Amino acid sequence: MNKEKLIIFDTTLRDGEQSPGAAMTPDEKLRIAKALERMKVDVIEAGFPASSEGDFIAVRDIARAVKDSVVCGLARANDFDITRAGEALKDASASRIHTFIATSPLHMREKLQMTPDQVVEQAVKSVKLARQYTNDVEFSPEDAGRSELDFLCRIIEAAIKAGATTINIPDTVGYNLPQQYGNTIKQLIERVPNSDQAIFSTHCHDDLGLAVANSLAGVMNGARQVECSINGLGERAGNAALEEIVMAVRTRQDLLPCDVGLDTTQIMTCSRLVSGITGFAVQPNKAIVGANAFAHESGIHQDGVLKARETYEIMRAEDVGLSSNRLVLGKLSGRSAFRNRLDELNITIDSEQELNKAFRKFKDLADKKSEIFDEDIQALLSDFKIEESLDEMVKLVSIKACSETGEVPQSHITLMVDDEEKSASSDGGGPVDASFKAIEKIIASQANLQLYSVSNVTQGTDSLGEVAVRLERAGRIVNGHGADTDIVVASAKAYINALNRLLSPTKRVHPQAFDGI
Ligand code: KIV
Ligand code: ZN
Repeated sequence: MNKEKLIIFDTTLRDGEQSPGAAMTPDEKLRIAKALERMKVDVIEAGFPASSEGDFIAVRDIARAVKDSVVCGLARANDFDITRAGEALKDASASRIHTFIATSPLHMREKLQMTPDQVVEQAVKSVKLARQYTNDVEFSPEDAGRSELDFLCRIIEAAIKAGATTINIPDTVGYNLPQQYGNTIKQLIERVPNSDQAIFSTHCHDDLGLAVANSLAGVMNGARQVECSINGLGERAGNAALEEIVMAVRTRQDLLPCDVGLDTTQIMTCSRLVSGITGFAVQPNKAIVGANAFAHESGIHQDGVLKARETYEIMRAEDVGLSSNRLVLGKLSGRSAFRNRLDELNITIDSEQELNKAFRKFKDLADKKSEIFDEDIQALLSDFKIEESLDEMVKLVSIKACSETGEVPQSHITLMVDDEEKSASSDGGGPVDASFKAIEKIIASQANLQLYSVSNVTQGTDSLGEVAVRLERAGRIVNGHGADTDIVVASAKAYINALNRLLSPTKRVHPQAFDGI
């Protein structure tokens, strides 16, 4: 039996990026978009072009580069946003404009200060304007999860009549329960007279940990598009995780009425890329992409798995891109073996010069670590690409950190700041603390350290350590990350990476912050 298609709409680069500290450069967004395209994601929401010049450029560049996925831009329901989105998307092979306006009594009254009639009128006007740029227009009644059903039916009917081809139902604040959300989708499809002229979509936030369950309830009740993000990245508790939706649909084909067209073997690569670029680490017990998701370590489970893998495994690790033979390269591996492995891991290298530099980094790592796994290569390249793409004002030149029993830890650090070498020393509670203090003696950023975390990329004490650092200054939050076999060096790199992001000027408008139609 041929099943209906479930459209996967990825919003990592838009809703995911709204997560504090997850802001990405246009180059970083382009790299993620290419990985999503390789995974055969149907629609990539590339950003919110009206929010800043940087995001306009990001959406424009993605629209130009991506050929096999629809590229979408978000726009509030106003002329300026829709025009910006239309301009950013004009070179796309296939484009979509996603426009939205809030429909819950609370949002209309407090945020928009508009009457329901005015909201319907604005929605219709915006969908019509968006249709002048593309035939593929999505409309979202924001905060649909707390909106009145009768009003939703009214505005959705009007939006479809005006030309919307996808109707997305956001549970903006993650308030709904699965049965309730599924019922909303069912009621809307049944009651809106022209509902057959649009595809209904889910968009669930995870504030109560129900985003994936709610999305699947929507699918069971007729939705044929799911909006989701890699690793569930998104504001507050995040969005529905793409990898969880996709693997649930694939694994439970016995119960689900539709199927996805994705290449699931790209899931791990995308997950690593997103966590590497944003600095948002994946928790070890995270479903599908966590380090423990396929590790059957407790004795009884392991025995069961060895005798017959189905005893405890419901999915194959290979299907999400984890190969059982992960030891790939070593000290003696040559440049072409390295290049082949990058191709196999779908890591793109833009020039011979970049390949040479990346190969040198690989050789440095191989000197410190005899066995190089796929995860090492992915972390190394992620780190390297960040160094390459950021126009860095601050660079690490050298670091010497000492810790000795009974002595106060010390760090001496040399940085290149705007082409001038500067050094400072500091003591601290430990070598990392001393290093951060030494960096601050030079930069004096006044930033508050909000998060510091270290994780190992592979097993063993010679593993690359991946460090995430979150800094805050005057309400602006940035994440930085660094990888090295020496975690003091990785920590200094992560801190400097965050500082470079903090020091680069940016002005962004939040899509859900209303500043007038
Ligand atoms: O959660 C939400 O309501 C959104 C809209 C902009 C669609 O992200
Ligand atoms: Zn959202």
